[in-house]
Amino acid sequence: MELKEVIGWRRSIRFYLPHRPVEREKVQKMLEAARRASCVGNVNNTRAVVVWKDQASDELIHALTPPLGYQQMQTAPCFIVWYSDSAAYEVDKWVGDLKNLADLRRLGTEAEATKDIIERFLRPLFTPIWQQMAVGPLAFMDLGQAVAQATLVAYDEGLGTCLMSSPRMVDRLTKLLKLPETAAVVCIMSVGYPAESREAGGQTPKYPFEELFFEMEYGQTFAEDPQVVEEMKQARMIQEPAPLAWRDAELKYVARALGIEEVWQIGL
Ligand SMILES: Cc1cc2nc3c(=O)[nH]c(=O)nc-3n(C[C@H](O)[C@H](O)[C@H](O)COP(=O)(O)O)c2cc1C
Repeated sequence: MELKEVIGWRRSIRFYLPHRPVEREKVQKMLEAARRASCVGNVNNTRAVVVWKDQASDELIHALTPPLGYQQMQTAPCFIVWYSDSAAYEVDKWVGDLKNLADLRRLGTEAEATKDIIERFLRPLFTPIWQQMAVGPLAFMDLGQAVAQATLVAYDEGLGTCLMSSPRMVDRLTKLLKLPETAAVVCIMSVGYPAESREAGGQTPKYPFEELFFEMEYGQTFAEDPQVVEEMKQARMIQEPAPLAWRDAELKYVARALGIEEVWQIGL
């Protein structure tokens, strides 16, 4: 599929075929896409633990379950716990990663001069703030970029995903997955073959384009060109919005077929 089409078909999938396993190689491709993402100084703070449901204890599945995740938890055969490792930001490592970029000619034009700048200007800048940066917005943005790339690969491979989160799951997961003290669990992703149609009720509508994006300054909207919108529709990046007329019937059918129990309190 073309990239724009993959973006168009991506929408959170909450019902999966429980009997159809996710191929290990597809998960590997997702993780590889995550590894390829851009991140500050190439520090590679994004980490993941893949949990196969058929090998997981009930305790772990319970700990993974957010308040609004019962459909995914009952049906998905695979989960990925995404976390950021603040150890990736440790200042000597960070400086080393940057210098490595210089050696690889991926940063600056002249390696020794670039490394000199890193040592003289960036090390003193990062030294007092790296711990703060390690749990700051950029660290989590970088994890988000990695997760987004993994997500698109999943859809390209015919899978569906849904991200889930709950602040209460963090401590329990850290313990059960034996994560290092430097781990900050961010979210859980269910992965599987959709039991719902590919449309899944239609593309999730978003806030109007011109409310979100500006040009030159806040308040000056970035005007949407209808011709470009039409092009994006042709490319299947913009699709029929939810709810499609038959969504209610589909939800009833899928919930009945999968024997979904509406357990709203799981994980609370
Ligand atoms: C960090 C994060 C946490 C989320 N947590 C949940 C959740 O606990 N349960 C759920 O059903 N969906 C969850 N979602 C999915 C969002 O509801 C969904 O992405 C949003 O409604 C937009 O729909 P779309 O993904 O189809 O575009 C989460 C999404 C993100 C990014």
